[in-house]
Amino acid sequence: MKIPVSITVNGKETSSEVEPRLLLVHYLRDVLGLTGTNVGCDTTQCGSCTILVDGTAVKSCTILTVQADGSDVMTIEGLAPNGELHPIQQAFWDNHGLQCGFCTPGMIMTATELLKKNPKATEQEVRHGLEGNICRCTGYENIVKSIVAAESMASPTKTKKAGKSAKGAAS
Ligand code: FES
Ligand code: FES
Repeated sequence: MKIPVSITVNGKETSSEVEPRLLLVHYLRDVLGLTGTNVGCDTTQCGSCTILVDGTAVKSCTILTVQADGSDVMTIEGLAPNGELHPIQQAFWDNHGLQCGFCTPGMIMTATELLKKNPKATEQEVRHGLEGNICRCTGYENIVKSIVAAESMASPTKTKKAGKSAKGAAS
C-alpha cells in the first residue's frame, strides 16, 4: 500500500506516493536525489541527517515521510541556492569547521535553527545546542568557533558568492 504525500522541500512543492515505512531521510535522498543530507547511524544518534521541518531541526531518520505530509522542509541544499554560501557555511569554511565533512550538513542545519532562535548564543549555548550532533574528526572546537563567528555576520539570511569552497560545506 502506498500513501500520497505533498511536501514543500527547499521552496518547491514535491508530491509522491510512498510506503508508510519510508523514512523522511530516504525520501529526500532516494526519491528527490537530495544527497546532501547524510545517513550516519539510522538510529537517531549522530545528527548527520538533521534538516528543518517547519523551521525546527529534526533528525530525518527519526520521522516517517508520511508524518511530514504538508510540511515545509529545508535541507542543506536549500541554504545555498544558486551556488551561494549561507553565512554559516562561510563561517565553517573560514574557521576550518570541518575535516571529512560528513557531519557538516547536520551541524549546519542544527546551527541554523540555533542562531535563528538565539542569534547571540554564547559558546556554552552553542555547545549545548550541538549535543545531538556527533563529529568523529574535529574535536568540535572549530565547529563551535564557526557558529559563534557566524553570529557576527550581518544577517543569517544574507548569502555570499561561493568559491570552490561551496561544495565542501554543503555536501
Ligand atoms: S542518521 Fe539520523 S541521527 Fe544518525
Ligand atoms: S568532520 Fe568528519 S565527522 Fe565531523
